[in-house]
Amino acid sequence: MGELRLLPCDPSDAAEILAEQFAAFSSPNEPCFFILFPKIEARERAVKRMLDWWVGDESARYVKVVDVDTVLDMMSTHPAHQHRGAGSMLVKWGTDIANSMGVDSFIEGTIIARPLYEKNGFVVSPNNWIVVPVHDKWKSRPEIRFFFYERPARSPLPNIGS
Ligand SMILES: CC(C)(COP(=O)(O)OP(=O)(O)OC[C@H]1O[C@@H](n2cnc3c(N)ncnc32)[C@H](O)[C@@H]1OP(=O)(O)O)[C@@H](O)C(=O)NCCC(=O)NCCS
Repeated sequence: MGELRLLPCDPSDAAEILAEQFAAFSSPNEPCFFILFPKIEARERAVKRMLDWWVGDESARYVKVVDVDTVLDMMSTHPAHQHRGAGSMLVKWGTDIANSMGVDSFIEGTIIARPLYEKNGFVVSPNNWIVVPVHDKWKSRPEIRFFFYERPARSPLPNIGS
C-alpha cells in the first residue's frame, strides 16, 4: 500500500466512487445510502444522477483520497482501506476550510463515523438517533435514521491579550 494523497474529484471518477460507496455503506445498520441509490437501479443511471448533483451544486467541492490504484470518496472509505487515515484527511480538509472561514460545521452522519468526527471536534447533538418520519406505506422498509454532529466555529486568528 502506498502513500495517501488528497485530490479534487473529476467527473470521470464517478462510477468508481459509486462502486466504492456501495461497498462502504453495505452495513445492515446503515440503509440510508440505499434509499438514495437503490441496488436495483441501473448503475449508469445512478452514476448520472450522482454527477448531476455534483455539477448542479456550484458551492460544493468533491475531494477524494487516493493511493496508487484506489479511489476513496468523501466520507466513505473502501473497507479494504479503512483505518489508514483517509477519513481523517477528508474531515481535516473540511474543518481547515471551516476554520479559515470562522464558521460552524454540521454533519448528518452514521454511527460508524462517530469516533472520527469526535476526534475532529464534532459533538453529537442530541446524543441519540434522529429518526426520519415516513408515511405508513413505507413503514415496512428499514428505518431512516442518522446522527447529527456539530462543531463550533474556531477563530481563524489566535486570541491575543485579555
Ligand atoms: C467512517 C469512515 C469513512 C472512516 O474512514 P477511515 O479511512 O477508516 O478513517 P480513518 O482511518 O481516518 O480512521 C478514523 C477513525 O475511525 C475509526 N475506524 C476506522 N476504521 C475502523 C475499523 N475498521 N474498525 C473500527 N474503527 C475504525 C477509528 O476510531 C479511527 O481512528 P483511529 O485510527 O485513531 O483509531 C469509514 O469507516 C467508512 O467508510 N464507513 C462506512 C461509511 C460511513 O459510515 N461513512 C460516514 C458517513 S457520515
